Amino acid sequence: MALFSFLVHPSLRAEYNRMSFGHKILFLMVHVVDKLGLWHRLPVFLGLTYLTFRRIIYNRQNLLAVGKIDSVDPNPDAHPFRSDDGTFTDLSKPAAGSKMTFIGRNILPVDQQGKLTDPDPFVVATKLLERKSFIGTGKQFNVIAASWIQFMVHDWIDHLEATRQIELTAPKEVAGGCPLKAFRFYATKSIPVGASRAIPVGHKNIRTSWWDGSMLYGSDKWAAERVRTFQGGKLRIREDGLLLDDEQGCAVSGDVKNSWAGISILQALFVKEHNAKEYPELEDEKLFQYARLVTSAVIAKIHTIDWTVELLKTDTLNAGMHGNWYGLLGKRFKSIFGHVGGATLGLALSGLVGLKEPNDHGVPYSLTEEFTCVYRMHPLLPDTLQIRNINEPPGANKAPLYSKSEKVLSELGFETQLVSMGHQACGGDLIAENSDGSERPDKVDLPTLEVYRDRERGVARYNQFRRSMLMIPISRWEDLTDNAEAIKTLKEVYGDDVEKLDLIVGLMAEKKIKGFAISETAFFIFLIMAPRRLQADRFFTSHFNEQAYTKKGFEWVNKTESLKDWMNSTSGFSVWDASPEKANWVPLYLRIPR
Ligand code: HEM
Repeated sequence: MALFSFLVHPSLRAEYNRMSFGHKILFLMVHVVDKLGLWHRLPVFLGLTYLTFRRIIYNRQNLLAVGKIDSVDPNPDAHPFRSDDGTFTDLSKPAAGSKMTFIGRNILPVDQQGKLTDPDPFVVATKLLERKSFIGTGKQFNVIAASWIQFMVHDWIDHLEATRQIELTAPKEVAGGCPLKAFRFYATKSIPVGASRAIPVGHKNIRTSWWDGSMLYGSDKWAAERVRTFQGGKLRIREDGLLLDDEQGCAVSGDVKNSWAGISILQALFVKEHNAKEYPELEDEKLFQYARLVTSAVIAKIHTIDWTVELLKTDTLNAGMHGNWYGLLGKRFKSIFGHVGGATLGLALSGLVGLKEPNDHGVPYSLTEEFTCVYRMHPLLPDTLQIRNINEPPGANKAPLYSKSEKVLSELGFETQLVSMGHQACGGDLIAENSDGSERPDKVDLPTLEVYRDRERGVARYNQFRRSMLMIPISRWEDLTDNAEAIKTLKEVYGDDVEKLDLIVGLMAEKKIKGFAISETAFFIFLIMAPRRLQADRFFTSHFNEQAYTKKGFEWVNKTESLKDWMNSTSGFSVWDASPEKANWVPLYLRIPR
């Protein structure tokens, strides 16, 4: 295969030469398609083949363990439910994915301790990340969709902080335009990893990395006990359907850090979903545990086949995400015959969910540093929330009334908030909060902080990130964007050195695939991590059945298809007055993207 290395971009050749024979063949096919910029224009079944090849290579090359997780002989009967802190989700590696384990990596860290302020994060944020005017997503994505992904992040990941504070001060050239001229925040806690020379330090996740509903149930025993009523398996909630407040006025839910109306309303919605489970024959503990399993699976399913399909609105991704859950043979076949086929064929035919065995691809499950970075989606948030009058007849005359702060929102009630968020397209200085929901004394400038965080955590800058993800790097600013004004500013901030470009800026500036609300570079991290969240978890594979979930619970998950099952809208996540899509009679797998 060395013969064909001339086809490979020079900066990817070293990586190519290290691949096995089989992976070299897969990579050559993927790479040629990349050179032609073609995969998202291919007929759906070919586009899916491309993505499958890429995923196979990534599972081998781009899952890097940080630290060591001990293995034990599994006892399949000992842990029938999800635990509070995520331990024993993987029975043979009990600590994997649990609270306070190391966050993994998709690519090797790049030490930037000497370059933390090169260029100054304030300059990058002020010149390149500041919202000059609000660019909405049209009818594609509403405020519920923005809230949803924060709701998910609160299930998945949050870095442990050190007690040491850092202060960033805006340089004179931009200070006049900064809402905060300086701000203080806690450093990410760096912990020596031990054996590995390539990854000498790591960072810990204070949430469980599993898709286990920890934003509702918390990531430890203390949080789980706080949200439960200990009667009939139920969670605590106000009579009017909103979250309870504690003595300090902070919402009571599994994870309330950096909370606001968008996330509280979804927490309240899924508390109701949890509390709707009726099994009078079961006692409190069992009922709680079954309801938790079912609610977590419903959330994961909505995210997979509803939210993601709206985010990456193309036929290929629609087929791909439904394929992850149901497989090529589809829902009807799976509901009659169950999951058919073994580890490889079964995955294609019946999807990841219900596989006979979980699979972590030889690397103990965790989420990753790069995964955190691509989910930095704060620009999805609008500047103000427009409250609608739900007593008006539906349609355009449900005119916005006023915008108010969160306290007032809560007085407006559950329905008004949800309907308002459903009708508003999604697009900060911010007060950061503690894990218990109390406000911190120091405000932060979030875009500036995010530029700093990626560097502090050794996440590669944009171009190296692309190379490590086996993507063709950019060689000039014009490869990144067609926007002449953006190119001028990029040159002002980074000069001609495209290698300096920060990941967060590159992800925002990159030309987008039609229908994608995020960049292709970010999407390739999803391509590896979204299936992994399902495939490594026994409650979505070997234990996704009536025995683990109960008959009623299993049916409940299977019948739920989308957030709109609870709402009267075309999709829960696109703007609710969007016109319905035109019917397309061409079978999904044969469609050619327009
Ligand atoms: C009003 C709503 C929101 C507020 C107040 C908020 C605030 C914050 C703050 C203060 C941080 C910590 C920054 C740091 O110390 O590094 C953070 C981190 C983060 N936020 Fe948000 N955020 C909001 C919405 C969102 C949304 C919509 C997303 C979309 C995915 C999101 C994704 C993230 C991610 C991925 C992190 C990094 C977590 C980590 O470092 O482990 N946030 N947010």
